[in-house]
Amino acid sequence: MKIAVFDSGIGGITVLHQAMKLLPDEDYIFFADTAHVPYGEKPKEEVRGFVMDAADFLNQQHLKALVVACNTATSVAIDDLRAKYAFPVLGIEPAVKPAVRESEERGKKVLVTATRLTLSEAKYHHLVERLDKNDRVDGLPLPGLVTLAEKFDFDRNHVIPYLKEQLAGFDVTEYGTVVLGCTHFPFFRDSFRELFPEGTDIIDGGPGTARNLKRILAGRHQTGGGTGHVTYYRSGVEVADQETLVHYQHLLDRLDRLEK
Ligand code: DGL
Repeated sequence: MKIAVFDSGIGGITVLHQAMKLLPDEDYIFFADTAHVPYGEKPKEEVRGFVMDAADFLNQQHLKALVVACNTATSVAIDDLRAKYAFPVLGIEPAVKPAVRESEERGKKVLVTATRLTLSEAKYHHLVERLDKNDRVDGLPLPGLVTLAEKFDFDRNHVIPYLKEQLAGFDVTEYGTVVLGCTHFPFFRDSFRELFPEGTDIIDGGPGTARNLKRILAGRHQTGGGTGHVTYYRSGVEVADQETLVHYQHLLDRLDRLEK
């Protein structure tokens, strides 16, 4: 049995990376819905349809668990997925809770970066309403980073000008924590580090999702039995060409480097 990790595109590799570190003795299926990326700029009902179709495909593969490694897909479809399938379905949402806790301690603000759809969804608004008692949380959609990541373009000469433009209305020194609330964004951690003052915490939900996955599988006595092998799919088609597979390996290597 395998663990499926699903995203609209390559962003889910940031979650796959965490899962593989914590659960190396598993086999994985990574599914990027590249025919429909970006989800974050599309209407909710359309995105929900894409997610349900992808899950139908993955359900034929005998899964241990499905990790929805996409904040946007989680916010529009997680309840429907959980109601439909018997295997555990894990989602990811912007890490607002630890960010607010930290910001209260440090007297700083929180900047939540995500897709437009995630930031406009009720799930996000409820989360912020529940946690942000002192009005410290601001949201910022960054669709340009999804576009760059899908082109495997992490060149700071392209990333930094885009981020500077998007951050022009913000005083970066006010923020103690930046939440990377889209799974494509941890690929750009180096650029965020460059633009925010030293000491700014830059966090994402990937490690927490991987820990949840481990806890849930352990609770079901379902850990192990694999070799760390990943089968990659793009919208239902297995990736066989070496060039793309090499790109994916480079992405995993890049994440290793960014963590150091
Ligand atoms: N990676 C996705 C997320 O975490 C969404 C990117 C997109 O398709 O717009 O929200």
